[in-house]
Amino acid sequence: MHDLVSLFITIFFIYFLNLKNNIVLKVFMTTIMSGLQLLLRFFSLFFIFSSSFTLVVGLSGCHPDQIQALVQFKNEFDSSNCNQTDYLDGVQCNNATGAVTELQLPSGCLTGVLKPNSSLFELRHLSHLNLSHNNFTSSSLPSEFSNLSRLEVLSLSSNSFIGQVPSSFSKLTWLNQLDLSHNQLTGSFQLVQNLTKLSILDLSYNHFSGTISSLLAMPFLSQLDLSENYLTGSIEVSNSSSSLRLEKLSLSNNHFEGQILESISNLITLKLLDLSYLNISYPIDIQIFSSLKSLLKLVLSGNSILSTSLGSDSDVPLNLEWLDLSGCDIREFPNFLKSLQNLDFIDISNNKIIGDLPEWLWKLPRLSSVKLVNNSFTGFEGSKEVLQNSSVKILDLALNHFKGPFPNPPHSLYVLSAWNNSFTGNIPLSVCNRSLLYILDLSYNNFTGSIPRCLRNFQTSLLVVNLRKNNLDGSLPDMCYDGALLRTLDVGFNQLTGKLPSSLLKCSSLKFLSVDNNNIKDTFPFWLKGLPDLQAFTLRSNKFHGSISPPNQGPLAFPELRILEIADNRFTGSLPQDYFVNWKASSLHMTEDGSLYMGDYTEIPGYIYEDTIDLQYKGLFMEQGKVLTSYATIDFSGNRLEGHIPESIGLLKTLIALNLSNNAFTGHIPLSLSNVSELESLDLSGNQLTGTIPKGLERLSYLAYISVAHNHLTGEIPQGTQITGQPKSSFVGNEGLCGFPLEQSCFGTNAPPMQQQQEQEKEEEEVLNWKAVAIGYGTGLLLGLSIAQVIASYKPEWLVKIAGLYKCKTY
Ligand SMILES: *[C@@H]1O[C@H](CO)[C@@H](O)[C@H](O)[C@H]1NC(C)=O
Ligand SMILES: *[C@@H]1O[C@H](CO)[C@@H](O)[C@H](O)[C@H]1NC(C)=O
Ligand SMILES: *[C@@H]1O[C@H](CO)[C@@H](O)[C@H](O)[C@H]1NC(C)=O
Ligand SMILES: *[C@@H]1O[C@H](CO)[C@@H](O)[C@H](O)[C@H]1NC(C)=O
Ligand SMILES: *[C@@H]1O[C@H](CO)[C@@H](O)[C@H](O)[C@H]1NC(C)=O
Ligand SMILES: *[C@@H]1O[C@H](CO)[C@@H](O)[C@H](O)[C@H]1NC(C)=O
Ligand SMILES: *[C@@H]1O[C@H](CO)[C@@H](O)[C@H](O)[C@H]1NC(C)=O
Ligand SMILES: *[C@@H]1O[C@H](CO)[C@@H](O)[C@H](O)[C@H]1NC(C)=O
Ligand SMILES: *[C@@H]1O[C@H](CO)[C@@H](O)[C@H](O)[C@H]1NC(C)=O
Ligand SMILES: *[C@@H]1O[C@H](CO)[C@@H](O)[C@H](O)[C@H]1NC(C)=O
Ligand SMILES: *[C@@H]1O[C@H](CO)[C@@H](O)[C@H](O)[C@H]1NC(C)=O
Ligand SMILES: *[C@@H]1O[C@H](CO)[C@@H](O)[C@H](O)[C@H]1NC(C)=O
Repeated sequence: MHDLVSLFITIFFIYFLNLKNNIVLKVFMTTIMSGLQLLLRFFSLFFIFSSSFTLVVGLSGCHPDQIQALVQFKNEFDSSNCNQTDYLDGVQCNNATGAVTELQLPSGCLTGVLKPNSSLFELRHLSHLNLSHNNFTSSSLPSEFSNLSRLEVLSLSSNSFIGQVPSSFSKLTWLNQLDLSHNQLTGSFQLVQNLTKLSILDLSYNHFSGTISSLLAMPFLSQLDLSENYLTGSIEVSNSSSSLRLEKLSLSNNHFEGQILESISNLITLKLLDLSYLNISYPIDIQIFSSLKSLLKLVLSGNSILSTSLGSDSDVPLNLEWLDLSGCDIREFPNFLKSLQNLDFIDISNNKIIGDLPEWLWKLPRLSSVKLVNNSFTGFEGSKEVLQNSSVKILDLALNHFKGPFPNPPHSLYVLSAWNNSFTGNIPLSVCNRSLLYILDLSYNNFTGSIPRCLRNFQTSLLVVNLRKNNLDGSLPDMCYDGALLRTLDVGFNQLTGKLPSSLLKCSSLKFLSVDNNNIKDTFPFWLKGLPDLQAFTLRSNKFHGSISPPNQGPLAFPELRILEIADNRFTGSLPQDYFVNWKASSLHMTEDGSLYMGDYTEIPGYIYEDTIDLQYKGLFMEQGKVLTSYATIDFSGNRLEGHIPESIGLLKTLIALNLSNNAFTGHIPLSLSNVSELESLDLSGNQLTGTIPKGLERLSYLAYISVAHNHLTGEIPQGTQITGQPKSSFVGNEGLCGFPLEQSCFGTNAPPMQQQQEQEKEEEEVLNWKAVAIGYGTGLLLGLSIAQVIASYKPEWLVKIAGLYKCKTY
């Protein structure tokens, strides 16, 4: 049906197109205006169904045959992801002949197999074809591409193409750009030798093998990217045979052998050279690149470098702006950098350099990014002012052995990362008298004194303040004013006192707030619910006190919250049954806001920050772990909480760890827990829980740790593998429990038979599902009422209690 409609409309418009060519739209409009109401209705009816309608109207310069081929091409695939506007924007026809000359499909538009008889190959006048970032599921490249003999630009990157590149590609002799990157193509590609006009060739991220010498001799080639393949052999380029235009060459992550560097040194026009992870068996002598006078960017990471070539008298390409020497097994500071007066970016992370940073480094006039992570640096040569006049913007000193006070940071600095060192003294106060600062990460050091108040000077830029694990004291200062951009504030593991400043509320972009392991004396900051984006909040191990139940009883209103750790404080009170209903954790996705880890704020070019957290669950222990945006954890342990565990916990589908241990919770273990399918660690030990262990917990296949020790539980321990695999200590201290792994057998006890337990659970489960649906639709009072109604019609014991609670508050 759909195809018929498309065809009909296509034919109809082809008719118009033939008549009026460029003014079709106008004719169409006037036709309608002049009273063809019937036609209008007819069309508006089909407008909804026909995707080709828009397509055709927009392609006024194109010949009907060509339009038909385009429509057919699109219909060969699942095109449900196509955006019509973009699809149109990507088509261009020659307005003299009406032939399609350019086709650029938007990313992710088409899914399906590209067949050899595809209508695509009827668009013989194409000169520019870009099908990148679609999904031609496991198609091999049809040799019919050679029918498009006028192609000058062909991009098929990121498409899941497999197999060999057909030899017919060598007939595309007009090709100027060819991009086959990010597929799974195999074989060698001698065939491109005949493509003598090629200027840009990208074959990266495939499974190509064989040797490549011939490519480097292609006369017009200016950019060649072969990274991430299985290329082997040596490369031979003599002075005379080398390309005279090659400017960008990337050979990273291959399996070359032999003297490939000699050959590369003949490519004297190179500006960019990436040789990372070559896996060659000998160390690289940097002086071999001295002939490359135009070289601006050199990436050698993951290769070992000849130490004698790092001295200040080395003959190296002097114009270098970008140099990456990370993971090169370097043991002493590369003094040749001193002569690189244009150097802008230097990365010597992941080496084994010991000692102080030379004073001259900071005098390089254009230096902007300095990455020295994971070495054994201990200090700075020169005075406390040594950095002051440097042009450095991004300074990353993390994971070294720096000690003593931090020198005054440069004025231009906008990222300062120095975590995991042994710096002492005050947080460098002069950090404050500059205009911009995006990221300040001084965590895991030994800084003392108070947190500088003047950090608020940067509220229009500052995104991250991480001062975790230092020796800071005093109270948390007011850092936030209207318009503050702060997203991460981590001051955990210090000696902070006082209360949480109410000014935190002004940091309305805050996502990650960690004040754990301090001496803060305050009540639970319900007022923080005004932070619409708060995702992770930990105040573990402080002196917080008072009720954890919101003043108005209802749910805890942090809509984006997924990590809440309030363990080891002095909180009291009970949790309302609907405590967790507003939490986002019921539906988190791996790609939530595009980033896998919390804190990965993409705005800062050239630096990646990631929030870390110490997860201290018995089933999951992770110090300084990155925090996935897609999971939730809750730790309320070691407080004085009482009352029932809210059934609404079962709504948090992405909860991986729940710790309510060492409180005074009473009542049953919520049956709804068996819905928390991602749960890995569950600790309910040290409470006053009664009843049986719900059989439904057997279903939790990721459950690695469970403890219900020291409660008043009774009956048989469910015998699923996740549960019986636990040690005995997980169940001790419950006088009425029986069955494996405990020694008490259930035979002859008065434990309720399993059969009866299951039926009860089934009934209550249905209620919970009902409730989840209701929650999806309503909020606030409406929600309360819908729960109350469900309760009224089912009335299992636990729900009657909530109903009572609700009625008290509602009326
Ligand atoms: C299609 O793309 C255009 C321009 O890129 C954009 O304005 C429009 O919102 C998109 N439409 C849909 C449905 O995504
Ligand atoms: C084709 O149309 C475009 C814009 O409509 C115009 O700029 C261009 O000159 C035309 N070319 C020919 C060959 O008519
Ligand atoms: C092809 O399209 C993609 C976006 O879909 C774009 O990033 C790329 O630059 C284009 N390539 C060419 C050669 O035009
Ligand atoms: C490609 O060209 C060959 C020879 O010119 C022709 O036989 C074949 O039908 C063409 N294929 C398509 C899909 O147009
Ligand atoms: C293309 O070939 C497939 C078989 O490979 C066939 O099912 C399909 O009908 C053909 N399509 C056209 C338009 O000829
Ligand atoms: C491509 O399509 C296949 C089949 O529809 C699907 O399984 C796969 O996830 C898709 N891949 C991408 C990257 O979208
Ligand atoms: C390259 O072109 C020559 C002459 O045009 C031809 O003989 C040879 O077969 C072609 N090579 C490939 C790999 O197609
Ligand atoms: C290549 O050129 C360099 C200098 O331009 C010269 O020293 C060397 O001998 C030449 N090598 C060959 C093989 O011609
Ligand atoms: C690197 O080369 C060695 C042999 O020199 C080989 O054993 C090893 O697998 C290679 N490593 C990678 C990552 O290819
Ligand atoms: C630090 O660098 C060494 C190589 O010198 C590497 O093996 C190690 O994995 C790096 N450590 C981190 C945390 O990146
Ligand atoms: C920084 O520059 C100022 C003004 O140019 C100068 O007075 C001062 O001595 C310089 N400091 C250092 C450490 O070079
Ligand atoms: C931090 O400093 C204190 C004394 O100021 C010292 O006792 C402690 O060992 C230091 N910690 C580290 C990790 O250097």
